[in-house]
Amino acid sequence: MLLLLIKMNMKKNYNQPIGVFDSGLGGLTVLKYLLEYFPHENFIYLGDLANLPYGNKSKKNIISYSNKCGQFLKSKNVKSIIIACNTASSYAYDVILKSSKIPIFDVINPCVEEIIASKSKKVAILGTEKTIESNIYANSIKKRNQNIKVYNKACPLFVPIVEEGFEGTSIAYSIIDYYLKDIKKQKIDQLILGCTHYPILIKDLKKYFKDS
Ligand code: DGL
Repeated sequence: MLLLLIKMNMKKNYNQPIGVFDSGLGGLTVLKYLLEYFPHENFIYLGDLANLPYGNKSKKNIISYSNKCGQFLKSKNVKSIIIACNTASSYAYDVILKSSKIPIFDVINPCVEEIIASKSKKVAILGTEKTIESNIYANSIKKRNQNIKVYNKACPLFVPIVEEGFEGTSIAYSIIDYYLKDIKKQKIDQLILGCTHYPILIKDLKKYFKDS
């Protein structure tokens, strides 16, 4: 959905780059698909490691860091910006959009569209503390369909696990179990990785939900 929206809105000026940012390496999970779907485009990727993690910072700081990322990318003459971070999308998308003349894309709206289209009835949202605190997924889903049951779970240790390269280890598995044992009992039909770092744990998560 995000890719479709970008395709519809993007000018065919392949020399001008598209800016992508996240607090760290999480946004690379988005960039991977952008490179695949738009092989003729140039991208500038910004991982704001100086301020990582965003997920436990104040709303004010998240907006300020995200704005600075947006300004940096605009200074590189990007033709569009993709906020490849759920935490930044939760708090700063509207702010960046309002102050921008170029198309701005977040990662939450397209995901909500997919959830609605999937006809799922029981969905669990995993995210950073701040994304979960914003309740943005549940609010957007409920606006579209009141009958979808939404479980929220903040998984703050997932980001450092990924940043430190601990995916595929027993440490990752124990932490997944610590956060997700209650969700596992709910027999959900869709698990939303509401943080762009989390797809790096996809093998561990699939194994966890397969193991009884
Ligand atoms: N990758 C970011 C997200 O999608 C968050 C990581 C962080 O806490 O900085 O929310």
